[in-house]
Amino acid sequence: MKVLCFGSLNIDYTYQVEHFVQKGETISSTALQVFSGGKGLNQSIALAKAGVEVYHAGAVGKDGTFLLGQLKEAGVHTGHVRVLEDVPTGHAIIQNDKNGENCILLFGGANQEITEGQVDQVLSQFQAGDCLLVQNEVNQMPYLLQRAHSMGLKIALNPSPMDEKIWELPLGLVDYFILNEIEAGQLLGAGEDPQGAAADGGVSLLENGEKTAELLHRKYPSAAIVLTLGEHGSVFFHQENCIRQKKYDVQAVDTTAAGDTFTGYFLGTLFQGGSEQEAMDRAAKASAIAVTRNGASPSIPALEEVLAFGK
Ligand code: RIB
Repeated sequence: MKVLCFGSLNIDYTYQVEHFVQKGETISSTALQVFSGGKGLNQSIALAKAGVEVYHAGAVGKDGTFLLGQLKEAGVHTGHVRVLEDVPTGHAIIQNDKNGENCILLFGGANQEITEGQVDQVLSQFQAGDCLLVQNEVNQMPYLLQRAHSMGLKIALNPSPMDEKIWELPLGLVDYFILNEIEAGQLLGAGEDPQGAAADGGVSLLENGEKTAELLHRKYPSAAIVLTLGEHGSVFFHQENCIRQKKYDVQAVDTTAAGDTFTGYFLGTLFQGGSEQEAMDRAAKASAIAVTRNGASPSIPALEEVLAFGK
């Protein structure tokens, strides 16, 4: 089975700040670092580090060719990434505060220049039984999902960043949703507040992750649900199988790409024959390590580090 990650490649400008800038406020950052990022690139690298053969598809401008080097260094195939002449590479402006929390402003750039022709050309290299992993940072997503499903590929969706374009997707075709509690709440129509009442009448999404995952599975019955819950760990739900995974406690310095690391390690472990339990545990360990390091893709740990974690 081959894994195709069709997704964003970004240059991340990460500013260290005391607190996130408020409306009307001007603040100074204490440091600026430039990292390779993009949810697509991060997830490809996490998959590769987890031990899976992964092919990345997407687009960069000429200013972003160094991102291909980062992918290759991690063992990701980059032959399906187009380098565009007149469009800048996508970028992210990230504020990282003293608690390691972040907020992110995206500029799509080349990530929004995917064509139907590129989708067709890339998918022609894959076949039934392969897996397509996508996020929500490139265009042509509805077409990509429809075509991949019609060819018999499995589809894993990390619906992040969540915006109105998600509702244009054929969500019923998804085989794995990997998402956080805010995204789950939005898919369930429970609003943006994860502390608020969920669709089942008054149960907090965070307090009752199992229930939230079950509700989502009921809404999308062909899909397995992998729900991350921050401090409350994570939950896997598929049919009658519900797994609760604890969070590993670490001192966070930068949470950027923690979710991407979780996604890559979860799928990577599963695709190598690991059980769902093993995949959840390895993903939790990998993302715990990632938050102790600065940056997006540079924070993603190697498999040996994940296996040694906590021993
Ligand atoms: O998930 C983290 C990523 O989100 C960053 O690398 C940034 O580029 C944005 O895509």
